Amino acid sequence: MGDRSRPGGDLAAGLTDPSVYADDPHGLYARLRAEAPVAWHPDAGFWAVSTHAEVQAVGTDPTTFSSASGILVDEIGTHYASPPTMMHTDPPLHTRYRRLVQPGFKPSIVRGLERSIRSKAQALVDTLAVGKPVDVVPALCVPFPLQVICELLGVDGDQWPTFYQWSEAAIPGATEWPEQRKEELLAQMWSFLVGVASERRAAPRDDVVSALATAAPGGDRLSDDELAMFLIQLLVAGNETTRNLLAGGLAALSQAPEQWSRLRRDHSRVPAAVEELLRWTTPVISFLRTARRDTILAGQPIAAGEPVLMIYASANRDEMVFGPTSDRLDVGRDPNPHLSFGFGPHFCLGAALARLEARVVLEEIIDRFSTVEPGGPVERASSSVIAGVRHAPLIFSH
Ligand code: HEM
Repeated sequence: MGDRSRPGGDLAAGLTDPSVYADDPHGLYARLRAEAPVAWHPDAGFWAVSTHAEVQAVGTDPTTFSSASGILVDEIGTHYASPPTMMHTDPPLHTRYRRLVQPGFKPSIVRGLERSIRSKAQALVDTLAVGKPVDVVPALCVPFPLQVICELLGVDGDQWPTFYQWSEAAIPGATEWPEQRKEELLAQMWSFLVGVASERRAAPRDDVVSALATAAPGGDRLSDDELAMFLIQLLVAGNETTRNLLAGGLAALSQAPEQWSRLRRDHSRVPAAVEELLRWTTPVISFLRTARRDTILAGQPIAAGEPVLMIYASANRDEMVFGPTSDRLDVGRDPNPHLSFGFGPHFCLGAALARLEARVVLEEIIDRFSTVEPGGPVERASSSVIAGVRHAPLIFSH
């Protein structure tokens, strides 16, 4: 801590300044990549890695870089008696969880959701005002992923506002609600999800929760507590991230009319556009690991016990990988090896679902509207973890 003789300290200090995120952090990332790709944050006490190669190197190596001591800067110094989520586990426990929960997300289950996901998207897109500013955050981007999660859990889609409250209560710093209110909401969420899980154990259906509740390769299965922990993660991890991909992605397209026209002319570009919007918005800005042993990253010695922050948002603009157009939105970009879903054994379990949701929304919107333009200032959250969009007023025209 406090060691200013290590590289990049003045730059890395900016990574914990909330005003950087409410504005545009990409200038800071570009300097970090160029001047100190492995930089020490002198006050918070972590290494920040900003290049594509180094983020991949850390993410792919759980033997050297552990998730068990926390994945957020705010968790540095925390010790868990038992892991709060599967993201906080290393092999072999993580390998066990992955084996047990992966069946719930297999391609056939995700593909089977497309029809109902599309009808939810259509119903919401139908409500968007035409020819005047509409804030797509509350109108589309908040309800849509929550309604999809209701579907995954096999519960009535009208319950999404309750899920919204639960999810907000679970995310540190998302609201100013008093601690007691948050605890009550989290307790409600816990008992509701345990109830859903035990119903599905008793009477399995053809849905994600049933696949998780009954998964038993080799006779192993999730305990009730593990299942509830996983369902909470599903509700929280799959919600804010997808919301901000949609809101940030639509806002970016409103500022790039030529990219919108390319999509309108050729709908087959939509999957590539989803990848580019994932790269461009990078909904999860960064996650953390902790070195288990002394090691070296890009020539920089890292000591056992030191935290290392992988800045996905910076890796996704790395000129060495994305070339001279790395700072331009290009819906035809190919290849597009972005790291928005992480890299390595913790690669996002919901990636196929998030891609499906974004593709369906884009298809419905470009089908319906000939143009989308900015309808007012986009308001961004100042979180250093989630690239949050609070308001995105846009004007759609037929
Ligand atoms: C645009 C949307 C999304 C983004 C950007 C995103 C991003 C990520 C990232 C970066 C990780 C890696 C965590 C790590 O390395 O420590 C991750 C893991 C995970 N994500 Fe997502 N996610 C998205 C949507 C979803 C959805 C829709 C779900 C579920 C419904 C989901 C469930 C998970 C789970 C369970 C993990 C943990 C996997 C593990 O630890 O093995 N995510 N996600």
